[in-house]
Amino acid sequence: MSVTVVIGSQWGDEGKGKIVDILSQNADIVARYQGGANAGHTVVHDGEKTILHLIPTGILNPDCVCLLGSGMVIDPVQLLTEIEEISSAGVDVEGRLFISHRAHLIMPYHKLLDNLNEQARGSQAIGVTGRGIGPAYIDKYNRVGLRIVDILNREMFRKILATNIKDKNRIIHELHGEPELDLDEIYNYYLEFDKKIDPLIKDISIYLNKAIDDGKRIICEGAQGTLLDIDWGTYPFVTSSNPTSGGAITGLGIGPTRVDSVLGVIKAYTTRVGRGPFPTEFEPEMEKLMREAGDEFGATTGRARRCGWFDAVIARYSARINGINSWALTKLDVLSNFDQLKVCVAYEYKGKRLEDFPADLNVISGVVPVYEDFPGWREDISDVHRVDDLPDAANNYISRIQELTDTPVEIISVGSERSQTIRTFQG
Ligand code: GDP
Ligand code: IMO
Ligand code: MG
Repeated sequence: MSVTVVIGSQWGDEGKGKIVDILSQNADIVARYQGGANAGHTVVHDGEKTILHLIPTGILNPDCVCLLGSGMVIDPVQLLTEIEEISSAGVDVEGRLFISHRAHLIMPYHKLLDNLNEQARGSQAIGVTGRGIGPAYIDKYNRVGLRIVDILNREMFRKILATNIKDKNRIIHELHGEPELDLDEIYNYYLEFDKKIDPLIKDISIYLNKAIDDGKRIICEGAQGTLLDIDWGTYPFVTSSNPTSGGAITGLGIGPTRVDSVLGVIKAYTTRVGRGPFPTEFEPEMEKLMREAGDEFGATTGRARRCGWFDAVIARYSARINGINSWALTKLDVLSNFDQLKVCVAYEYKGKRLEDFPADLNVISGVVPVYEDFPGWREDISDVHRVDDLPDAANNYISRIQELTDTPVEIISVGSERSQTIRTFQG
């Protein structure tokens, strides 16, 4: 049996898509456990780029079955579009894609409210992706959400939907002056959606637990990252789910005793999209250089990503919160563009040294990073396939990250292609 949870260790966009795609070549099942179409996971194969938002990246490997977990919030419009897009690109999804009947549905009012709420926050805006994520999870926890299984009970579905639309129209129409939503139109759309996805609906907990019993190899694909976690991230500048490894347990209906390992995907520097504190963030000039070198533009919204040096305080925090066994260190090739590198090893706050990531937003915003300097290697490493062939300076950089985080680097990524990957040992 082998169940590996793959998580983002920073603020998302660490390269989870690329890493899960590689691992899924030796996997039977890949399952997403939380979030929704706010994710943008990129896979590049033979120069061809695919960006997946809802469907696990394992779908690009023909032998992999893919699951959308109960912890997810699923936008039917996006799901159908994505199925259509990958099918027309030649990927056969028949019998390989299943959706939890307990997953919550994103409704049109969630997407509308996401954008209206964001506008209303003004200078306190979070920088959401506008995919309806926050409002959908609000309804879930407020116990007025609608799940995929609920569409089956037409009468109840219509009744709850009618109440929700009445409530939301008060905000959408009366408060914001936007046109009212129409019950029949929405009801009929979801009925049609239900017919289309009927063969894909499954009790994924039963399916997964049996697969584990049968010795299948399973990857749980996290979306977003540890610092965007609703409980452990830089609250309130976070997403509304649990991207951390615990989310895989609740989101997929498997017990913690079933998980064998946790792989933390971590960029060789740091990026963040959206607002919120970011201790190692660059000044604009350096940020521009790194953004261009790393092509740091959002896969979902196209927004320019904020950039900064590698932060070992965050990496240590992530290792602890998630129980990370090893790292997949990505985008090391991007650092070839710089003469000098820095790694943040601790923070200073009001003259005191902090080794652990703080919870208080004011403290996170006020810390001064303590840096160690490293010589760069100024050498193209994008064709390197063995650790021994990396420049010494690159190996020193990796060794120090391992030391600072007390966690080994198992995979090193030196380019977006599948082939641009170095395995340090067999995990
Ligand atoms: P995810 O959300 O964690 O899956 O990451 P994204 O797909 O949003 O962003 C990662 C970006 O970096 C994508 O454009 C990838 O193709 C690219 N990428 C992944 N690994 C590497 C790498 O090692 N080097 C370079 N240069 N690009 C990479
Ligand atoms: P992947 O899976 C990077 C950020 C948004 C915003 C905050 C809340 O590709 O790593 P939301 O729409 O979720 O309510 O937005 O979270 N965010 C991401 N940042 N990568 C992601 O996903 C993200 N998903 C959400 O920018 O700051
Ligand atoms: Mg992404």
